[in-house]
Amino acid sequence: MKVLLTGANGQLGLELQKELGEAKEQYEILATDCDTLDITSLEAVRQALIAYKPQVVINCAAHTAVDKCEEDIENAYKINALGTKHLAIVCEELGSKLIQISTDYVFDGEDPQPRREDDKTNPQSIYGSSKLLGEEYVKTFCKKHFILRTAWLYGEGNNFVRTMLKLAGTNKELNVVDDQFGSPTSTKDLAVAIIQLMHTEYYGTFHATCEGQCSWYDFACMIFDLKGIDIKVNPVTSKEFVRPAKRPTYSVLDNFMLKLYGLNRFRHWEEALKDYLENENNEDE
Ligand SMILES: NC(=O)c1ccc[n+]([C@@H]2O[C@H](COP(=O)([O-])OP(=O)(O)OC[C@H]3O[C@@H](n4cnc5c(N)ncnc54)[C@H](OP(=O)(O)O)[C@@H]3O)[C@@H](O)[C@H]2O)c1
Repeated sequence: MKVLLTGANGQLGLELQKELGEAKEQYEILATDCDTLDITSLEAVRQALIAYKPQVVINCAAHTAVDKCEEDIENAYKINALGTKHLAIVCEELGSKLIQISTDYVFDGEDPQPRREDDKTNPQSIYGSSKLLGEEYVKTFCKKHFILRTAWLYGEGNNFVRTMLKLAGTNKELNVVDDQFGSPTSTKDLAVAIIQLMHTEYYGTFHATCEGQCSWYDFACMIFDLKGIDIKVNPVTSKEFVRPAKRPTYSVLDNFMLKLYGLNRFRHWEEALKDYLENENNEDE
């Protein structure tokens, strides 16, 4: 199976390169990033896809700096919405499957109930709105699509786990938000779900996060517990930690569609985190 990855040097892209690379006999991979395939150019997307003729395109490219998106609005929409649209148009022309990665930020997070795939969206930030428009373009322009909404990702590269470990090296105590809830999700579990789905014809939208839920404070405490790091962690409210982009308060997603298909292999977030901390060299960056 020929697979083209965009944004392949990001957290999820690197994990997919690893997971797909482990089954070399099954997959031929073309890993692209900004410098080799800028998805904001329709011509570049058309040229690359026509030359490679992938059976599956996995779009990991995105403008993911949530706070920066609030002022870098044009780029947020260019990458997250238009870039995605370009891939959708050309995938349709070639009959390729398109896997789009989306986010819990398409919801407002006001209601403290896990969100299902068909629940009403209501993004509260530029990042969330631009990703939602990307989803709409995928649905409009490409029949063979999968949209996977995920959240609180960690893997290779910069992420909350590595930030906490780095801060613990230079601080005696840390303040961490205790009134926003979600499901920390390992890129490893997400990559497994993507690879599983891309072999099917179960097109549509899927929620794709690890099981269970916690606050950022709980997440930080668990990271330090598992690493045996003795540090004082203070729970603080979002009001004490104001950021440019509004975060959803309750952003837990229910992997309802994966469960209906009998394909929900996501581990509990604590189990996936333990595995990550034991197996990754995550203090280097
Ligand atoms: N991280 C999370 O917590 C989280 C949560 C929910 C959903 N998601 C979604 O999951 C997906 C993967 O996230 P991630 O954490 O792996 O993101 P990431 O680490 O920020 O990687 C994104 C990659 O896209 C590249 N990129 C940016 N603009 C591009 C363009 N115009 N053309 C081609 N590539 C471009 C980036 O390159 P540069 O670094 O050079 O800009 C980077 O390599 C994204 O769709 C994101 O919205 C992430």
